Amino acid sequence: MEAGFCEIFEVGPRDGLQNEPRDIPVTEKIALVDALSAAGFGRIECASFVSPKWVPQMAGSAEVLAGIKRKEGVRYSALTPNMRGFTDAVAAGADEVAVFASASEGFSRKNINASVAESVERFAPILEQARHDDLPVRAYISCVIACPYDGAVAPAAVAKLADRLFAMGCYEISLGDTIGAATPDSIARMLLAVRDVVPVGRLAGHYHDTGGLALDNIDTSLSLGVRVFDAAVGGLGGCPYAPGASGNVATEVLAAHLAKLGYHTGVDLEAVKSAAAMARAMRG
Ligand code: HMG
Ligand code: MG
Repeated sequence: MEAGFCEIFEVGPRDGLQNEPRDIPVTEKIALVDALSAAGFGRIECASFVSPKWVPQMAGSAEVLAGIKRKEGVRYSALTPNMRGFTDAVAAGADEVAVFASASEGFSRKNINASVAESVERFAPILEQARHDDLPVRAYISCVIACPYDGAVAPAAVAKLADRLFAMGCYEISLGDTIGAATPDSIARMLLAVRDVVPVGRLAGHYHDTGGLALDNIDTSLSLGVRVFDAAVGGLGGCPYAPGASGNVATEVLAAHLAKLGYHTGVDLEAVKSAAAMARAMRG
């Protein structure tokens, strides 16, 4: 049974490694990205130009982008919280960048020291410059179901922010269940609200697997038309400012699941498994 194309956006080298306690050498990060390039992903997030005081694990991002073997057709992405991060990401050779906001005020304050409205204001010059440079900008919305500080998040709050970021020019909105609190029902309520304001083809699911329901949430999202999912090899991941959050859904598990459902993902399952082994070994 052929169910069509479903893309896995690999975020392990960024979302995964940003939360690891071990000081991971740049050479190991480069080796992981190279293994992922060989595995067939079209987009790999491998850098984050945030303050090293806030996330020391991402301090070597420019060296990572400089050291990887770039595979033709693959876009190497970087997280950028402000104009400074954007400038550094472009100088380092990122093919696309991602801005990140939260649907809840509590997480926004803790993660980027700004209100939701202030964070969106910071993104405006990034989007303007990116348009000028012809560089794609993705957007993350965190806490689309629940916030570790504020509790449950209303689907309307997610839809309002998604609408705004899409109108500003973000080409895709990745919806983050940052603390893995979602269930198929809450994911469906959130997606139905967001789908009303942003075309479903421009949405991605970014589900952490804390509650063990990430695959069920992905099945629900597939049934509602979402065809892009973020995942991290080896199930790495988490955010230093989201206490209790565990890893992203593991890429090797998601790739096998999608293959079983008949989706074509373009990734080589064996190569993904060996990248996952490499990622797990990096945990220390
Ligand atoms: P701040 O302290 O409010 O801002 O931080 P500031 O302007 O006062 O800057 C503080 C220091 O950082 C200054 O250095 C700046 O120069 C420097 P100092 O003068 O003290 O020596 N600085 C920078 N350095 C490097 N690159 C930059 C940069 N900007 C300022 N771009 C700031 C505000 C946004 C910078 C900070 O809060 C920050 O970096 N936060 C990032 C937190 C983060 O990366 N969290 C994890 C990613 S989000 C996530 O994982 C969720 C996601 O996966 C989706 C999901 O699961 O929900 C995406
Ligand atoms: Mg995340």
